[in-house]
Amino acid sequence: MASKHIILKFAERFGTTPRLFFSPGRINLIGEHIDYNDGFVMPAAIDKGIWYAVAPNNSDTLNFFSFDENEEYSVSRFEVRKNDGWRNYVLGVVDQVIQKNLPLQGFDCVFGGDIPIGAGLSSSAAVECGLLFALNEIFQFQLSRLDIALMAQKAEHTFPGVQCGIMDMYASLMGKRDHVILLNCLKLEHKYFPLQLREYTLVLINTKVHHSLASGEYNIRRQQCQEGYKIIQMNVERNISSWQDVHPQDVEQLKDKMEGKVYQRSLYVTQEIERTQKAGQHLENNQLEEFGKLMFETHKGLSELYEVSCPELDFLVDKAKDHPSIIGSRVMGGGFGGCTINFIKKQDWAEVTDQITKAYKQQFNIDAEVYEVATSDGTYEAVAG
Ligand code: GLA
Repeated sequence: MASKHIILKFAERFGTTPRLFFSPGRINLIGEHIDYNDGFVMPAAIDKGIWYAVAPNNSDTLNFFSFDENEEYSVSRFEVRKNDGWRNYVLGVVDQVIQKNLPLQGFDCVFGGDIPIGAGLSSSAAVECGLLFALNEIFQFQLSRLDIALMAQKAEHTFPGVQCGIMDMYASLMGKRDHVILLNCLKLEHKYFPLQLREYTLVLINTKVHHSLASGEYNIRRQQCQEGYKIIQMNVERNISSWQDVHPQDVEQLKDKMEGKVYQRSLYVTQEIERTQKAGQHLENNQLEEFGKLMFETHKGLSELYEVSCPELDFLVDKAKDHPSIIGSRVMGGGFGGCTINFIKKQDWAEVTDQITKAYKQQFNIDAEVYEVATSDGTYEAVAG
């Protein structure tokens, strides 16, 4: 999506000169469903995202126009309430601004982008972070990027109602081109790793099965993990201050004290925390093949223990496993549909994905989409024009 469409639409609707912002979506190499369990995740911002054109309008009215939905919505800044659909992502953010008594005034805004919705690339975080970043610049709230990430996360909890972790917002705001982020979700500290892919490239295959995290499964996973954690804290003799202190053996030993699903979720969490730490070392040592093996293991865990995969995703990962040019593949993001992320030999990724998507079409009669990933900087102001 060219930003120029957003600017043109803004001119057509509001007739003033806006400022322009870009807020990226994200990928995640490893560390899935671990952010809200205070583990480690390894996301990166990507070059697909949401563009925002925003200008103050010297009134008390907030005028939104969603380019992708071709819908408008206006509300007084004194009457911001929960709504539905895309409105909740922008209104949730405005509500956070109001809760914090920040000096908000009326504004006009047009936003839209090229992140496929429901594909696990975090379009919602891009929408939330982009708006808050823009308002912060325009009305000079003096929020840091971390403040923005935390407020956007709160907005997602309160308005759309998904009890998400911090990964998506963090990646969208802190991304660095040609790098991945290793984020410690407990301490909210990160380091960057250069993304050196050698003879490989990163490719997403979109099942086109739309997930809906708000459907409740995501929140249920979170509750099951909390339940598991409580049992572990009560029964393990040493001091446990977060999931980072828990090992798979601890969970195995408490199997009898846990309801079956709670046990499965807890085991997955501890295994994935270990995997992500190992993966960080592999990336540092440029051992991409080893990294890829861990991705397959993550998929197995997400499919069998955490149960957030679906037949379409499992099919794509199985095909990937069989292919000598693919060294790692797994479901990415919240799951229940969306994309797989794949490490594929650069020289034949197009051919390989063509074979896989043909087989997928035969099996499910769905045209999967394929995107080669390019990383991006975190949310930024761009030059309008
Ligand atoms: C969604 C959530 C994130 C994270 C992932 C799973 O993208 O928004 O916080 O939990 O799912 O890793």
